[in-house]
Amino acid sequence: MIGIFDSGFGGLTVMKEYLKKYPEFDYMYLGDQANMPYGSHSKERLNKLVVQNVDFLVNKGCKLIIIACNTASADALRHVQNIYKGNPTILGVLVPAVENSLKETRFGNIGVIGTRGTINSNAYKREIEKYENDLYKPTDKRARESVKLYQQACPLLVPLVEEGLIKATVTRMILKNYLRPLKNAHIDTLILGCTHYPLLQKEITRIMGKNCKIISSAQAATYAIGSYFENHPDVLNLITRNGKRTYYTTDCPERFADLGKRFLGEVIVGEKVEI
Ligand code: DGL
Repeated sequence: MIGIFDSGFGGLTVMKEYLKKYPEFDYMYLGDQANMPYGSHSKERLNKLVVQNVDFLVNKGCKLIIIACNTASADALRHVQNIYKGNPTILGVLVPAVENSLKETRFGNIGVIGTRGTINSNAYKREIEKYENDLYKPTDKRARESVKLYQQACPLLVPLVEEGLIKATVTRMILKNYLRPLKNAHIDTLILGCTHYPLLQKEITRIMGKNCKIISSAQAATYAIGSYFENHPDVLNLITRNGKRTYYTTDCPERFADLGKRFLGEVIVGEKVEI
């Protein structure tokens, strides 16, 4: 069984991609609504919450854990990986998006948007620097010698999406405001570094224009797991395949069901648990 967790429902955008690609696997999803939003917690608090979530999923029998939350992947992935030492395998969503952006960028101007926690962690910058030598192969005559990353925190987007204001004028105005510095910097690739942003992808694409490649961390992470399984058949073989899906939430099952339907596109029932 694969365990996926997030601060609430946002991680369902990652689960949605997994279900499209691997519907036969068994999944357990945990939404830590009692402690949301993760985007404004300190690193210390996030480390603690992430360990709690992983413990819960491991005790329920998950053999592969996906941290669907960008903020938690940015701040706490290494911390839990050091604790569990590969048993089970714990993966985040940052590196696949970074790899993808380095392969896609035409001249090395990459942007990333995320929560305050994700942007303040500087994790995307660190990962870009780590992979750039291997993956950056610019194709345009404007190419920079090395990649420049433009980072923008967008703290208002998560509540707007959760309030269902995806197509509202206010959301469009706020998006334009957040994206202006990235547009002015002529980025050619933009990473959607938050679970909630795939729901705004159409509007973001409209604002950024067709010359800017948009990379969703949810899609990139799911795509990357294919090659991960090729290189780690032992992990793949541990995953049971009965198409079973179980949902847990640490608070408000009604809200979980309501928003879950919007994020996943199907009706879900989350059992309330204490972790
Ligand atoms: N899941 C978070 C992320 O991807 C957004 C919601 C939150 O702040 O809890 O960064």
